[in-house]
Amino acid sequence: FNSLLSKLERARRRVERYHYEQMKRADRLASIGEMAAGIAHEIKNPLAGVAGVIQVLKKDLPQGDQMRAVLDEVLSQIERMDKAVRNLLSFARPPEPKMSLVDLNELIGKLFDFLAPQFAKYSIVTERKLEAGIPWLSLDPDLVQQAFLNIALNAIQAMPEGGRFTVETRSEESDEEAPGLVQVILTDTGTGVYSENTNRIFSPFFTTRQQGTGLGLSITQRIIEQHGGEISVSNPAAKGASFTVSFPCPENEAPE
Ligand SMILES: Nc1ncnc2c1ncn2[C@@H]1O[C@H](COP(=O)(O)OP(=O)(O)OP(=O)(O)O)[C@@H](O)[C@H]1O
Ligand SMILES: [Mg+2]
Repeated sequence: FNSLLSKLERARRRVERYHYEQMKRADRLASIGEMAAGIAHEIKNPLAGVAGVIQVLKKDLPQGDQMRAVLDEVLSQIERMDKAVRNLLSFARPPEPKMSLVDLNELIGKLFDFLAPQFAKYSIVTERKLEAGIPWLSLDPDLVQQAFLNIALNAIQAMPEGGRFTVETRSEESDEEAPGLVQVILTDTGTGVYSENTNRIFSPFFTTRQQGTGLGLSITQRIIEQHGGEISVSNPAAKGASFTVSFPCPENEAPE
């Protein structure tokens, strides 16, 4: 009996230590985040200024001047820095959600229209399997749009040689066992996620891409969780990656 007690005591101490480490880590992340946001904020405006000047310089150059290509390269590097800075800011200082009633099918339709030129550029065929009449949800449409955009951009980057990007929406009514939910499933036929990375891809700063900040999916996850939802990834049988986003569904009020 005594040895059982001391085992329990040891286990309790292990759990306590674990919690303590987690808290310390969260604390450290929060202060790093604040500092990063401060720096990002300081960089954003001068960067826009520099981009403006380069654009003016470029306009003054005659067509065919070799300097134009150089300035274009400078502009594309500035764009890259700007993206990193904006990602850092929305990671460290997330905006408060502004909820309204949203039809997810419509929101996804808009996102696909917005991305159509990108899909075309990389020879990506898209497919929409949207369940008609899924319940409308109370969401922040801009934030949720951003969440799906990050997933779609990753899919595009995972299919440089072309492929297929499928989005499916479905709903499940509540029953005794589970509350109702609305799901959005986004599947690509790209490189897929290595199984040892499936837990890490949502962590801030985890990236396997040369030009990635590794913040896309952690921002996506936070937005989904802000709405009481969940996100998970799986590798479909064939090839590629599949992201499932589930939002809880409000209890259906019977129509009068
Ligand atoms: N659809 C996908 N197919 C294959 N790998 C993916 C996919 N989506 C995400 N990943 C993996 O998850 C990592 C993290 O993604 P995340 O969007 O957070 O950052 P990133 O895309 O690398 O950088 P950023 O979003 O800042 O451009 C990627 O580097 C990639 O390894
Ligand atoms: Mg990304």
